[in-house]
Amino acid sequence: MTQRFTGRAALVTGAGSGIGRAVARALAAEGANVVVAGRRRGPLDETVALIEEAGGKALAVTADVSRAADVEAAVAAAVDRFGSLDVAVNNAGVLDGRGPVADVDEDAWRRLIDINVTGVFLALRAEVRRMRTQPGGGAIVNIASRIGVHSRLPGTTGYAVSKAAVSVLTRGAALDHIADGVRINAVSPGPTETAMSLRPGETEAQRAERMRSEVPLGRTSTLDEVAAAVLYLASDDAASVVGADLVVDGGATA
Ligand SMILES: NC(=O)c1ccc[n+]([C@@H]2O[C@H](COP(=O)([O-])OP(=O)(O)OC[C@H]3O[C@@H](n4cnc5c(N)ncnc54)[C@H](OP(=O)(O)O)[C@@H]3O)[C@@H](O)[C@H]2O)c1
Repeated sequence: MTQRFTGRAALVTGAGSGIGRAVARALAAEGANVVVAGRRRGPLDETVALIEEAGGKALAVTADVSRAADVEAAVAAAVDRFGSLDVAVNNAGVLDGRGPVADVDEDAWRRLIDINVTGVFLALRAEVRRMRTQPGGGAIVNIASRIGVHSRLPGTTGYAVSKAAVSVLTRGAALDHIADGVRINAVSPGPTETAMSLRPGETEAQRAERMRSEVPLGRTSTLDEVAAAVLYLASDDAASVVGADLVVDGGATA
């Protein structure tokens, strides 16, 4: 296996499950020392154990990305333990506030914006502030969604608004900070094999059936497929890729 991240320190938010865990494991498998962040300690410890069992190094830090002090502490933990912050993946997010716009609960709307938008902004800000002090700069990948700037679906407009903001934040911040040596890009997954792509009450078998008609590829993307796109953008293979928003959706928005 290639080792594109040997000796590099990485931070992955929302790394206690799903895409974040897969990205953290893939980074560690390619030599990165990984800080895994999220709100619940138990799932983070499980991610650390999986990485250590495979021979990698990781550190769990509990953090709510909607709190500036928490994400600043996560960045500081990477620097304290591993000496730098070279890669960051802002993956933490929620799919809240489902339903037609007129029926969306105000608290759910605010949670979406707080976590999905402000959370990415606060993490990105803390990461860039550190990376721009380093001779080697750094690379950041934000996780947006194919629901957002790429497409909208009925009943998920609040989520689409929040993820469109992540796509735009990515492009704007990429322009702002490439001269600081910090490369910023996004991955916009389509339906991926986690609980988030299940409709309320839907089984995995029912989702598989729906995918056959909704997605040209005919299936959900795997966690490894999404992680591979993230690692590409975070790696030196993408050294001249700046402000890209890579859609990984089996052709759903082609
Ligand atoms: N699955 C899909 O089909 C799909 C498609 C497009 C985009 N995405 C995006 O991909 C990302 C990962 O989703 P997933 O499918 O892997 O879902 P997931 O398994 O629910 O992962 C989300 C993670 O984010 C963490 N998180 C949520 N709020 C947080 C907060 N305020 N602070 C810190 N961590 C927080 C959660 O852990 P805690 O609850 O412990 O904090 C959880 O580990 C999300 O941004 C999602 O919007 C997913």
